[in-house]
Amino acid sequence: MILARRLSTKAQTRVLGTKAPAQMRVLSTKAQIRMLGTKAPAQIRVLGIETSCDDTAAAVVSGDGRILSETNRHQHSVHAAFGGIVPGLAAAHHQANLPLVLRQTLLGAGLSIGDVDAVAVTRGPGMAASLGVGVAAAKALAAVHALPLVGVHHMEAHALLARMGRDDVRFPFVCVLVSGGHTTTLVAHDVNRYATIGATRDDSVGEAFDKVARDLGLAWPDAQDGGGLGPALEQAAARGDAARFPLPVPMDKSASAASPDFSFAGLKTHVRRMRDAGAFDARAPQDQADMAAAFQRAAVAHLRKKTALACRRARAMGVDFSCIVASGGVASNAAVRRALAAVAEAERVPLECPPPRLCTDNGVMVAWAGVERLRRGLLDPYTFDFIQRWPLDRLSEMPYPARASSFDP
Ligand code: KG4
Ligand code: ZN
Repeated sequence: MILARRLSTKAQTRVLGTKAPAQMRVLSTKAQIRMLGTKAPAQIRVLGIETSCDDTAAAVVSGDGRILSETNRHQHSVHAAFGGIVPGLAAAHHQANLPLVLRQTLLGAGLSIGDVDAVAVTRGPGMAASLGVGVAAAKALAAVHALPLVGVHHMEAHALLARMGRDDVRFPFVCVLVSGGHTTTLVAHDVNRYATIGATRDDSVGEAFDKVARDLGLAWPDAQDGGGLGPALEQAAARGDAARFPLPVPMDKSASAASPDFSFAGLKTHVRRMRDAGAFDARAPQDQADMAAAFQRAAVAHLRKKTALACRRARAMGVDFSCIVASGGVASNAAVRRALAAVAEAERVPLECPPPRLCTDNGVMVAWAGVERLRRGLLDPYTFDFIQRWPLDRLSEMPYPARASSFDP
């Protein structure tokens, strides 16, 4: 097989010399896909690269969903002093860290780049300068080695991870994506095909966790732990009494109770106003913990109610969903997982959540999304650019002229 690939690359190089650039990609990817068609899923290895925010991450995942290697360099210590992510600094650290993250990932899998079958990279959405670093690296690696290239939607990667190595997590499913940039419920009809049910009208839930944690004066957790300030708030909440400062659940009044959308800005501001009015002391550990618990309880109740509503909407649309998938950084929160498990139980479907450490950003989810898209021939040209703002339900509108046969017949 290795010999076959070397031959095919050489043969392609000869042919490509005689072709115009527009034809090059199609020829190269078709040849590669034919070659992949001869491999069993367990033998296929996809390199995934993630640099959309402040994690420089990479992984190699097999076509049957085994993690062969993964590396994640967080930048929390870099941004902690600023109280939030500084885009220019994030990009500079991706530039510095990505080469070694890639090297470490390949070494960890015992592979060289020549042994990889495809390169997948987060194409968007995210911070422009950060996305650019990963996309440029992936394009160069793939083009130089004539490998298929897969541009991945970051939120699709969060969603599809629940299917990694799991034949039983089938489409369609209801998906709850809760991260630092997104809070949305969707129907996942298939790879590349999503329909939004509800979305946040203002802040994402992750943003609200982060800002409330900051207003409560909570410290960033250890630099090499994932997740940012959200885990700090969860840890404080575990020591607190949620009943001491009762907070209203957002969008619970009759006018907005029937909407599947979310809103977290009012809840966040409520906490800040209470602090400014002296209702609690952000320097007193017990006040911090009680307020954290109260915020988490209201935020989780909001997520639970709107997820239940999304399930009802999905059924009303005639969608017989197999499960509820929850992913994104906030889905690593134990209270969130418990609440969504209760919704799933009431709906008589399982809740499928990736393990907490894989709910936050990582390279594994990008590599696995690469596997899923490769299976359907959803490849991208070596010339593609990143997309900073990119609604998940617009994914199916992207042109895929090189849609080739599947390697997974
Ligand atoms: O998915 P993710 O790693 O990055 C984005 O795509 O945005 O999500 C990061 C967000 C941050 O807002 C972080 O504070 C939040 O997820 N988060 C949590 C927890 N772990 C991460 N929020 C609440 N509880 C957690 N345990
Ligand atoms: Zn994410």
